[in-house]
Amino acid sequence: MAKINFIDQSGETRTVDAEIGATVMETAIKHDIPGIEAECGGACSCATCHVYVGDAWTDIVGGPQPMEEDMLDFAYEVRPSSRLSCQIKVTPALDGLVVTTPERQG
Ligand code: FES
Repeated sequence: MAKINFIDQSGETRTVDAEIGATVMETAIKHDIPGIEAECGGACSCATCHVYVGDAWTDIVGGPQPMEEDMLDFAYEVRPSSRLSCQIKVTPALDGLVVTTPERQG
């Protein structure tokens, strides 16, 4: 298990247990985290699972692959820390990860 902290636009943090090997998006859906829609179910083809990775975590999480980068063009208010949460696999190294959900998806 790894703890993941989801911060919403009001600043509220929800900390949940994530299974190693699941994605951050799957973890969010399982725990009813608001602000993650994940319309395509994790196929990297909707960009409605967009999150901002916390500053301390961007190097650990790494950047998007080319397909994800293309998809991010469709996300709302993309920043350098933007990732599609369905493309982030939970590993033990991500224990304590902080991500913020955007104001809206799509
Ligand atoms: Fe559709 Fe992530 S769930 S791109």
